[in-house]
Amino acid sequence: MESSASMRKASSHASLADPDDFDLTRLLNHRPRINVDRQRSFDDRSLSELSATGGRGGWGGGGGGMESYESMYSPGGGLRSLCGTPASSTRLSFEPHPLVGEAWEALRRSLVCFRGQPLGTIAAVDHSAGEVLNYDQVFVRDFVPSALAFLMNGEPDMVRNFLVKTLLLQGWEKRIDRFKLGEGAMPASFKVLKDPKRGVEKLVADFGESAIGRVAPVDSGFWWIIILRAYTKSTGDVSLAETPMCQKGIRLIMNQCLAEGFDTFPTLLCADGCCMIDRRMGVYGYPIEIQALFFMALRCALLMLKPDAEGKEMMERIVTRLTALSYHMRSYFWLDFQQLNDIYRFKTEEYSHTAVNKFNVNPDPARMDFRWFALGNCVAILASLATPDQAAAIMDLIEERWEELVGDMPVKICYPAIEGHEWQTVTGCDPKNTRWSYHNGGSWPVLLWLLTAACIKTGRLKIARRAIDLAEARLARDGWPEYYDGKLGRYIGKQARKFQTWSIAGYLVAKMMLEDPSHLGMISLEEDKAMTKPVLRRSASWTV
Ligand code: GLC
Repeated sequence: MESSASMRKASSHASLADPDDFDLTRLLNHRPRINVDRQRSFDDRSLSELSATGGRGGWGGGGGGMESYESMYSPGGGLRSLCGTPASSTRLSFEPHPLVGEAWEALRRSLVCFRGQPLGTIAAVDHSAGEVLNYDQVFVRDFVPSALAFLMNGEPDMVRNFLVKTLLLQGWEKRIDRFKLGEGAMPASFKVLKDPKRGVEKLVADFGESAIGRVAPVDSGFWWIIILRAYTKSTGDVSLAETPMCQKGIRLIMNQCLAEGFDTFPTLLCADGCCMIDRRMGVYGYPIEIQALFFMALRCALLMLKPDAEGKEMMERIVTRLTALSYHMRSYFWLDFQQLNDIYRFKTEEYSHTAVNKFNVNPDPARMDFRWFALGNCVAILASLATPDQAAAIMDLIEERWEELVGDMPVKICYPAIEGHEWQTVTGCDPKNTRWSYHNGGSWPVLLWLLTAACIKTGRLKIARRAIDLAEARLARDGWPEYYDGKLGRYIGKQARKFQTWSIAGYLVAKMMLEDPSHLGMISLEEDKAMTKPVLRRSASWTV
């Protein structure tokens, strides 16, 4: 999350020695806007209600979208008129952009079939690229925008198939060398192989044992839960989520991430490279991407678990964790000028409960990560981990620092890039992650759908339109690249695949959501007031 704050993770490497030279202080120089007046939706009953009744929210009911969107989002201005428009008439009046048809064709070309049924989309259909590496696999995280596109287009069957088959993979025994991974782990990716002898197709999954860096994906299980909730919300079909198999799958994922260890924080301790940024980039410890997805998955799981004997106990654990997690994130991950100033003035070596500088941050060689991460911030908005005023502040930041965060191709995966000695030590001189490239400040078109969703949720449609216009001007012409390089994101990434599926699907999802904002309900959760009382005082920079 973060921005006028931005949420940061509590480790890493910027120094506050000279705050005047520090990019983020300039980045934070903006005013917030609090313009969202939302009502609660049926989907988003408070945690206290849920735990008191042991019941589930109304996420399964009805045909998804419009109804709950209207109850969820009734801000003033432009959005109201959109909300008042029935989905069908919005669709009729919509002139599809010529790229939309082209994108659908490309997306369908990426479909993978297993025993005659489509089951996912491969990462890239790039015949020109030399080495395929693992881009011929179905990645769980890459499939998210594909799943949303098909759901929005009224084609849920393939999404259902994906959810069921990946659940079977979860049941495998997973080993890396002689070490056995936890039961709930979900694969980063899988592919369909044909057994030449028997002529049957089988699935082969990668839980990190083949991935570059050998890191297991922490995000896969969370995304699986989020897709299941999107499927349920969009189809109104609760029967899949209610199957014993899905209930067990949710519980196993939850069990793994709720397990108690030596940690003193409710956040999830992670290895570097366990999410979208899947190689060494100093994104370890408590990265915002994982914490925001964790929060969202906990909330989605709570809505879908049945309060039977096993489910009820899990629901209680989830509620307890959510309360602690939201308090922790809102207290320690939000970064605005006031926070920065407090840190700048920190004293060290404080002991006991009265410590102000709880984590003993040494402001000079701070080892704090002040980078801004797009995915974590957008998911924090969608999951309502960010309060409405924090969400508005994040959108303000994006608008005001457009050149840095969006540039010529939406959106930068993180900002700023690391370079020089820091790049050498942190990435191990990774040539793919040189400054302003790939994971290190590169621009990823897939993030367009997350930005658009965050814009709709906060009522900032102008920002979404502007970003989509930029993408539209180049994406198809450039062959739907995986990422762009450069400070402004003007160059097609040096090693970017073409026809990268999530760039294509991300564009389609952004277009469809803007055309019919009721789709947002699939991927967004209303604020839970009982759980998430803001604990942060407002700083002067955002009360003005
Ligand atoms: C790269 C990305 C990762 C993605 C994969 C397949 O490894 O870093 O996030 O899932 O490619 O597209």
